Amino acid sequence: MRLKNKPWALPLIEANPQYVVTEPAKLRGKWDERFTTKQPLLIEIGMGKGRFITEMARRDPKHNYVGIEVQTTATGIALKKQLELKLPNLQLVSGDGNDLTEMFAPAEVAGIFLNFSDPWPKKRHAKRRLTYQTFLKQYQQVMQKDGTLEFKTDNRGLFEYSLTSMNNYGMVFDQVWLDLHDSPEAVDNVMTEYEEKFSQKGQPIFKLAAHFTS
Ligand SMILES: C[S@@+](CC[C@H](N)C(=O)[O-])C[C@H]1O[C@@H](n2cnc3c(N)ncnc32)[C@H](O)[C@@H]1O
Repeated sequence: MRLKNKPWALPLIEANPQYVVTEPAKLRGKWDERFTTKQPLLIEIGMGKGRFITEMARRDPKHNYVGIEVQTTATGIALKKQLELKLPNLQLVSGDGNDLTEMFAPAEVAGIFLNFSDPWPKKRHAKRRLTYQTFLKQYQQVMQKDGTLEFKTDNRGLFEYSLTSMNNYGMVFDQVWLDLHDSPEAVDNVMTEYEEKFSQKGQPIFKLAAHFTS
């Protein structure tokens, strides 16, 4: 997803350092300091406009949440939501999820969400997929041993690729959904912007929850 660059986004981000972290490496091992309550930290990589992470943080005050997004305009839109809600358990990162081990110390993260990640369908771009083995290695490093990786997508090709990539990496699947919205878990499911768009078109939503074994 490429959003048209909005000139207001960067100044808004710069004016609100209490909600948006632009130098996340400085917080490595110290993320607790950004929140009012010390509690387990859940992160989303590629939060887009932030609907999912904002709603998760609102519904679940017992966790701290960090939404990471590389596009300034998308982060700016997520920030606008946070400026209205002022959730004490939500922080946004304007940065690249590829630098995860520089942002978080080993086991600093309790869980990771990937939602409707860019599919990068060409084989030569496989390394850019957020479920490619180099990303999985970073998730393993920053996540606690009992942490869960949750991944949702409408893209069958990316889903199949991710199942294989995670399986080859030695991850264990807790649950796999081939049509999340037609399952009992649909009741508590928090939708993302993309999820709403694709499910309205009648496309099934795929989801998996998995963990590392070491
Ligand atoms: C297809 S959009 C989905 C947005 C949102 N998760 C949703 O479901 O509505 C994918 C998002 O991931 C972001 N993204 C892709 N690679 C990223 C990376 N390495 N680090 C941070 N964000 C990334 C993109 O900029 C884009 O906003």
